[in-house]
Amino acid sequence: MCGIVGAITRSGAVLEGLVEGLRVLEYRGYDSCGVAVVDGGAIAIRRKVGRLSELEKLLSDGALNGARAGVGHTRWATHGKPSDENAHPHSDGSGRLALVHNGIIENYLELRRELQAEGRVFTSETDTEVLSHLVGRELARGRSLADAVRAALARVSGYYAIAVLSGGDTPHLVCARQGPPLVVGATADGAYLGSDVLALLPYTRDVVYLEDGEVAELAPGSLRLTNLAGAPIARAARRIDWDAEQASKGGFAHHMLKEIHEQPDVLARTAFDRILSTRGDVAFEHGDWSDARLRSLERVQVVACGTALHAGYVARYLIESIARLPVDLDFASEFRYRDPQLARGTMALAISQSGETADTLAALRLARQLGAWPASICNVIGSTVVRESEATILTHAGPEIGVASTKAFSAQVVASFLLAVRLGRARGVLDERAGTALLDELRRLRPRMEALLASETIEQVGAIARAHQNATGFFFLGRGLNFPIALEGALKLKEISYVHAEGYAAGEMKHGPIALISPGMPIVVVNSPGRVDEKVRSNIEQVKARGGHVICVGADQPSLALADERIATPATIEALSPVLNVIPLQLFAYHHALARGCDIDKPRNLAKSVTVE
Ligand code: AGP
Repeated sequence: MCGIVGAITRSGAVLEGLVEGLRVLEYRGYDSCGVAVVDGGAIAIRRKVGRLSELEKLLSDGALNGARAGVGHTRWATHGKPSDENAHPHSDGSGRLALVHNGIIENYLELRRELQAEGRVFTSETDTEVLSHLVGRELARGRSLADAVRAALARVSGYYAIAVLSGGDTPHLVCARQGPPLVVGATADGAYLGSDVLALLPYTRDVVYLEDGEVAELAPGSLRLTNLAGAPIARAARRIDWDAEQASKGGFAHHMLKEIHEQPDVLARTAFDRILSTRGDVAFEHGDWSDARLRSLERVQVVACGTALHAGYVARYLIESIARLPVDLDFASEFRYRDPQLARGTMALAISQSGETADTLAALRLARQLGAWPASICNVIGSTVVRESEATILTHAGPEIGVASTKAFSAQVVASFLLAVRLGRARGVLDERAGTALLDELRRLRPRMEALLASETIEQVGAIARAHQNATGFFFLGRGLNFPIALEGALKLKEISYVHAEGYAAGEMKHGPIALISPGMPIVVVNSPGRVDEKVRSNIEQVKARGGHVICVGADQPSLALADERIATPATIEALSPVLNVIPLQLFAYHHALARGCDIDKPRNLAKSVTVE
């Protein structure tokens, strides 16, 4: 995801600090970068596709070294390919301002049309440039930069972290937040902003985190916080005493925990700007996802590994039930050696966080050789899987550092939900009203995910995990859409706690595995209201009758009441229950591994991307 930095000083040069701030934010992943500074009153912008080193070549002439106000940006492409023109900062062509942005402006198309009708000229494909023109228009009306930013944001729907720099005799620097994080800080000589506190630590450890709907006006030695209406907000600075290692985890103890907490933002980045609200449909930006192309499909063949395959299981349930299209799926490592027979009109759907998993790549290539249309759900835009797909749904999870996948998984499930809607609309089996209803529920998911990440839920899950830290074996049971979630919960525990945990279809237990249940054995059962909730309740009874200790996760109240221990999740539609139910299982594995003193971010024997067979 994008990174933002900014600085304004009384006397100190800012350029080197801006570049170093971008270097610190490189971990967020990017495909272009840029800076803008006030140079003799005018705004000077330098931006380049590629790595930071490419930008540094543009700055090596030293022409901008004396600037005392500036902003910087690393861009993770969403709207518009990675290119010099789409790189930030953006301006409005007046030479009076520069703007950087992290997030999505959902109504950018209508605003772009409005601004173009007034004669404003756009030079990029980005949603961000609309913001530059909105602010420029308000500046031209005589407003201060802060008032111009507030007036511009009043027209915007979406989510954003922005920083805006204006030139002239007295430069001004303003930032605002609605979603992605922004943190600010001031010293005697300057004021600083960044997407991550990491970027401010070289200047100050006393920082202020902006909340949603807030605007900060930065001036040398001072910060002024307001809401979007301009009313002042008082907020004490927080003292950050992390070292660099801790800071790279955003203050969380582990990358995995930080990434679990990023999931509500990942949902927004992966889904919200793809929703076509007026049509009950979605749009994908990479490849041909048109009605004509999708109507030619007869089957889907999912190939993936590990956690990604669990997302594939969810995709099968969603695509078959919403789009009425048959879906096969297989371990990529099995698919590639079983001499598969693919029907005409098959879409091969490779699901992969890294896009470099050897088995998944080989399976995709084989499917293509057998005549399938190669498509993918992937988290890395430049990866081999994406390059060898004819169409891709990019997940915008940002770099996933923890080896145990969490935010990438939920992003893959969300992408699968979007795909099911697109397929259903294209095939005419999902009408606009039904599509709108599904997408409205998706929009409502973010606060429900955030509720699950509140401290009390985490405390509750941690206590249960610690209570079972010495158990020698677990079952994770589920049915339907929550069967893959049981598989994923078991895999998370195996990966980071090194304890045996078996994910199983709840209905299959009576066909043998139930013999394994010994008195007190912890059995995690995932159940939410839906077509199979009563069946799962029976399975809970069967397990309890044999002395199993049931830990129920989900929103099915009768199941929660039956259980020995319970972690309730917010209600949502059955199709989206996997996105919520997986969160307590991720936290369970995390706290269990913590209690056992395991290496959570780098578990033994595991690699983040298995690029060999
Ligand atoms: C996830 O927790 C695991 N580390 C592993 O199963 C992973 O999902 C699998 O190796 C596939 O990786 P990919 O998504 O990068 O293809």
